[in-house]
Amino acid sequence: MSETATGRPWLTDFSGIKGAPSGMLGGQEASLLYHLARDHYQGYGDIIDAGAFLGCSAYCLAKGLDENLRVGSKSGRLHSYDLFHLWTEPGVSHDDMSDFLKRSYGIETAGQESTFHIFSQNLGALARHVRIHQGDILQEQWPGRPIEILFIDICKTQPVWQHVIRMFFKSLIPGVSLVVHQDWHHASLPYLPIAQEYMSDYFEIFEPKANDSAAFRLIDRIPDNVIEAAAAYRFTDQEQVALLDRAIRRFEGNSRFLKLLKAELLRRQGRAREALELVEDTYANHGEPMTPDEANYFSGPVDGTATAAARDLARPGNTIGFDASKYLAQRPEAAEAIASGKFDSAFHHYIRFNARDFLSRQ
Ligand SMILES: C[S@@+](CC[C@H](N)C(=O)[O-])C[C@H]1O[C@@H](n2cnc3c(N)ncnc32)[C@H](O)[C@@H]1O
Repeated sequence: MSETATGRPWLTDFSGIKGAPSGMLGGQEASLLYHLARDHYQGYGDIIDAGAFLGCSAYCLAKGLDENLRVGSKSGRLHSYDLFHLWTEPGVSHDDMSDFLKRSYGIETAGQESTFHIFSQNLGALARHVRIHQGDILQEQWPGRPIEILFIDICKTQPVWQHVIRMFFKSLIPGVSLVVHQDWHHASLPYLPIAQEYMSDYFEIFEPKANDSAAFRLIDRIPDNVIEAAAAYRFTDQEQVALLDRAIRRFEGNSRFLKLLKAELLRRQGRAREALELVEDTYANHGEPMTPDEANYFSGPVDGTATAAARDLARPGNTIGFDASKYLAQRPEAAEAIASGKFDSAFHHYIRFNARDFLSRQ
């Protein structure tokens, strides 16, 4: 059966997003936004595009809205939020981010140049549907109008996610609203699935995986105290792991990024050995088939978590009679990797690439 027949046309049909500007979305998730705005949106509430960048998500939502035959009044129903200049993410410096944006999109952002003119150009006539909210979203408030589609691609730090929960979640409409998390299948933002999972009694999974995105439908009103507890994020380390475990079970079949996220969370909690074990056990036989593109995309964060966990374990007390000179003589590439700064020592390199051997000897 085709994905169109199963009600998930966005997985295979990209015709609606032809002409979309380049941005940070894959074809499936871009098409998901288009289809949600065209085929699911009923006009009961507004549409939020939180994290607009150069306008790809806004374009897909606006185009779907434009072609929506059910809704008459469309002007200003779509709200795009962005700084419209260089932003940073945990672990990425200003300079690296600026280089990345220049290389990938040909845009100059180093001196905080505005990218708003590119967004406007990219939206063209569709801009008539959009209300712009320019600036730090942490300074914004939502007036409380109902929200029908909430697209979240802005929570690159935990405080922003906490603010987004407080700002928007009270305005979702039970039985109607859809929340799309663009960073769901991503390996570095554990706070996102943890707080979303905390609210999971009130949501059902609408789309488990379209590229990096997952979508949820609100099925019941979320009590104010649950929204506040999710936003306050005062979860203990154990509660965070338990919530992530529950999300992993809920996303069975599409859980490999959540599992990697759990390994990263364990590492950040000082549980490097368990983190490395999880990376090894899950990713040697991950059991969830990947296309070569996905495998390539996945290998970066796997390497990041495994290398960081190995660094945490490469303490002198763990050396188990390790002979650094012998290892370096056998593995000339290790010396190069140490010289490049990626590894601190021969022992660090050994743990990273011989994790099973290291773990079995401990
Ligand atoms: C991954 S990009 C969004 C990509 C976009 N949805 C697309 O379709 O290509 C994340 C965006 O979030 C914005 N952002 C990050 N932190 C922000 C904040 N505190 N306030 C407003 N915008 C923010 C950045 O400026 C950036 O454009």
